[in-house]
Amino acid sequence: MKNQLTETPIWKLLESHFQSMKNTTIKSLFSDDATRAERFRIEDLGIYFDYSKHRVNAETLSLLCRLAKESGLGEKIEAMFTGEKINITENRAVLHTALRAPSGTTILADGVNVVPEVHEVLERMAGFSNAIRSGEWKGYTGKSIRNIVNIGIGGSDLGPVMAYEALKFYSLRNLTFRFVSNIDGSDFAEAVKDLQADETLFIISSKTFTTLETMTNARTARTWLLDQLVSDEAIARHFVAVSTNEKEVSGFGIDTCNMFGFRDWVGGRYSMDSAIGLSTMIAIGPDHFHDMLDGFHQMDMHFRNTPIERNIPVIMALLGIWYIDFFGAQTQAILPYDNYLRRFPAYLQQLTMESNGKHVTLDGETTGYPTGSVYWGEPGTNGQHSFYQMIHQGTLLIPCDFFGFRTSLNPLPLHQDYLMANMIAQGEALAFGKTAEDVGKEGVPENLIPHKVFEGNRPSSTFFMEKLTPANLGKMVAMYEHAVFTQGAIWRINPFDQMGVELGKVLAMKIIPELQDNRKWLDHDNSTNNLIKYYRG
Ligand code: F6P
Repeated sequence: MKNQLTETPIWKLLESHFQSMKNTTIKSLFSDDATRAERFRIEDLGIYFDYSKHRVNAETLSLLCRLAKESGLGEKIEAMFTGEKINITENRAVLHTALRAPSGTTILADGVNVVPEVHEVLERMAGFSNAIRSGEWKGYTGKSIRNIVNIGIGGSDLGPVMAYEALKFYSLRNLTFRFVSNIDGSDFAEAVKDLQADETLFIISSKTFTTLETMTNARTARTWLLDQLVSDEAIARHFVAVSTNEKEVSGFGIDTCNMFGFRDWVGGRYSMDSAIGLSTMIAIGPDHFHDMLDGFHQMDMHFRNTPIERNIPVIMALLGIWYIDFFGAQTQAILPYDNYLRRFPAYLQQLTMESNGKHVTLDGETTGYPTGSVYWGEPGTNGQHSFYQMIHQGTLLIPCDFFGFRTSLNPLPLHQDYLMANMIAQGEALAFGKTAEDVGKEGVPENLIPHKVFEGNRPSSTFFMEKLTPANLGKMVAMYEHAVFTQGAIWRINPFDQMGVELGKVLAMKIIPELQDNRKWLDHDNSTNNLIKYYRG
């Protein structure tokens, strides 16, 4: 096996260090160090990142940072930012950071400065967004647009819907936004049920413009619109496309004047700040969209320029590796204490799991060590009344990321204090638990004591910020993008392809005609053949 990560001296050191840490408790780490919370904390860009409630000491951090350095992280970061083709399986640069680079910056991809084009597209998006927002853009019958329906899936849906929900507070309320992704007809049917075609704009968002779900929904949308507006000429007023594929866009019948482009160096799950963010820009307006881009850019600069030891995404990534590869954790909870962030965990699922859910290194070798983690979560406090039981008293180790904001966007009396008290309390309870002795002192009957004990020693990070703003959302997303990158760099995998989604798509294409024609001979396995027969009826 070539160049096996787990054979490196630093990995061996981490393994033996793990032996000395695996039984160390967070409680003892705190009692040994009265200033632990100040030392295991990073404050930058208005983010208060507390990582003191982790099963790490100074030596753990120093070894993990050494791992990052010896993995060539610094050089790999530079390679990404300067447009090297680090996505080697697809022979592409990875330049989502160029999407938020200020105008005037030079970033070369294949010798061409990509920044002017990025800003040209942003300007066209702004012009279009303003025309929709002001009512100046008229539909086919002369009415202004009141409904925006984004049709896309994966990165062409999760980013737009997450950002719309997250930044709803800043959105224009006389516009209705809907997001259709699923090929299940119910998704489209419900999205348009109460809409009038002559007031509706469809944004067909697809990097490739060939994705089965999106193209099927787009064709259904066209039929739905033409059923009401009859003339093909209506398409130009009610359909725009966001894509890298001009040919397919015009083949679909959308004038490329109504197309907003981006390039293949933007991965789908890294595209919410490209033209894929058109629905976001229409919702919150160009100024807020630019604030969001600025937040992304601030985090890009932090990631690129801050020493590893003080680098927020790098520390996040290293903690992940510590739990996944040494403690054997398989999951990571994302727990935002802000209801606007309800789609943030779902967004991060694609970002993290489609990126690092890989078992083969860049050299094509099986890793032999765990990569990636199952990301999931719900906003607090809702999750507390559902799955937190397992985080507190279950048998799995589930590291948690908490997110809180000091100022509520909707400051109703008492709510914010209650919300933040709950977030802070959860981290405390997870880390320090409650002993049998404490439970006993409360007069709990002997037989119930074991049920009421909280072992504690369950790790969490807490991210505190002032307020949920477009800029802060940009920082949060970029922070995870770069944490994913860092983990990929250390695990020696490619976070930028997604070949694992292909096989299912190919098999579905074979099965579609088999469902439609009862006479077709079935040559699948016994189970699959029977499922097809059951569907056929
Ligand atoms: O099937 C996976 C995937 O390729 C994602 O990576 C991507 O975000 C999604 O499909 C949608 O792709 P497109 O934007 O090309 O329609």
